Amino acid sequence: MSKTYKNIKGTFDIVPDPSISKDASPFSSGQWIRIERVVRDVVRRYGMQEIRTPILEPLDLIARGIGQLTDIVSKEMFAFSRDNTDYVLRPEITAPVVRAYLQHNMSQLLPVQQLFYIGPCFRAERPQKGRYRQFHQFGAEIIGEPGPMADVEVIRCMVDIYKELGITNMELRLNSLGDETSRPQYKAALQEYLEPHRNDLSETSRSRLEDNVLRILDTKNPDEQRLLQDAPRLSAFIDSESEDHFNIVCEMVDKAGIPFVHDPFLVRGLDYYTRTAFELESPDLGAQSALAGGGRYDLLATELGSKNPVPAVGFAAGIERLLIAVSELGDTAAIDDGPDIYIASLGDTALKWAIDTAAALRSDGGAVVTALAQKSLKAQLKDASKRNARYAIIVGEDELQSSVATVRDLRKSTQEEIPFASLPTLLKRS
Ligand code: HAM
Repeated sequence: MSKTYKNIKGTFDIVPDPSISKDASPFSSGQWIRIERVVRDVVRRYGMQEIRTPILEPLDLIARGIGQLTDIVSKEMFAFSRDNTDYVLRPEITAPVVRAYLQHNMSQLLPVQQLFYIGPCFRAERPQKGRYRQFHQFGAEIIGEPGPMADVEVIRCMVDIYKELGITNMELRLNSLGDETSRPQYKAALQEYLEPHRNDLSETSRSRLEDNVLRILDTKNPDEQRLLQDAPRLSAFIDSESEDHFNIVCEMVDKAGIPFVHDPFLVRGLDYYTRTAFELESPDLGAQSALAGGGRYDLLATELGSKNPVPAVGFAAGIERLLIAVSELGDTAAIDDGPDIYIASLGDTALKWAIDTAAALRSDGGAVVTALAQKSLKAQLKDASKRNARYAIIVGEDELQSSVATVRDLRKSTQEEIPFASLPTLLKRS
């Protein structure tokens, strides 16, 4: 027997009808398209413009941007070399967007860019529900604005998308990571506090003690969480400008009617954040509860070679997790991509007529499908209803003689006779 192939573990085929396979994404392509349309509609209301960057990026960009010591860069990159160049399949889209912004000098056109994106990302994580090796993000970035209103706008936009989809059971956690003046002092204080407990720490946390101590705050280990209860808080070290910034963000988010908690342990898994950091969680998602995350990254552009600092803030969200969350609510809505008309034909002449008539109806804007070879009427009507067609036009020898077609409304299960010349009126019916 010849070899057969399967998709790579942690990746999925998105197919029109996933009920046929346990391997495909459990969400139909129609459900994916519907989510993408809602995202596009909400970000349009915020005046966001779309940016599309390549899936392949220079490894160095991602390593510098996200941080060498992060899990993403140190463990989870799909990277390879070719022709003396190191490439990576992008694990996220913020660093690529900032690269593009700098490379094309986009501030020339608009000093404050408000950009959104939708596309695949890749992380070599251990696959489980809600965590994949190829997953899809949508997100938005406001680049060029240092003030807290940009943070608020980004958070409102993110939350609006979930609200639009009926998701209300979510928790927004907010924190401020301070700036480059306050953070080193806080890191030193945290190290000093944790050092005497070095031997009680997990191996991962011990290795983070020297070079990435803030990530210890993110620990899921209950013993470490208890230990951290008495640890110094960043809020005691925060510079006054960052504090003012954070207070305004909290005030405005509260005013927008978005419930949130201030989580002093929220640090996020990417190193580019300064000041605001946030995460949106859904208790309905299980272990992988983060729907979306983001924050301010005022130093990323300089890290990526910009002479001038470029303040920016954004969020990104996982589409798979959003689909899981909406389906938990029993919402399986999908874009109805069924054709308007299915032409069923009987006999060779009628089949040719069907092909020509389909073309004519398409030029009137209709979505029209025909059988491509002769089949029984029963098989064609079954095909039409499987494809979720609205009408079936049935044409055989008699209909060709009289130039009048039998038309079946497949939703209402009614039937009528319509002259060929009037068939385009079917497309105008609601
Ligand atoms: P992130 O928290 O790494 O942030 O990812 C954002 C979202 O992508 C997560 O909340 C989650 O929904 C989804 N996600 C991440 N990894 C996976 C995975 N392996 N499988 C399924 N879904 C996943 C960022 O990527 C930042 N770029 C966010 C940002 C934008 N910060 C500023 N601007």
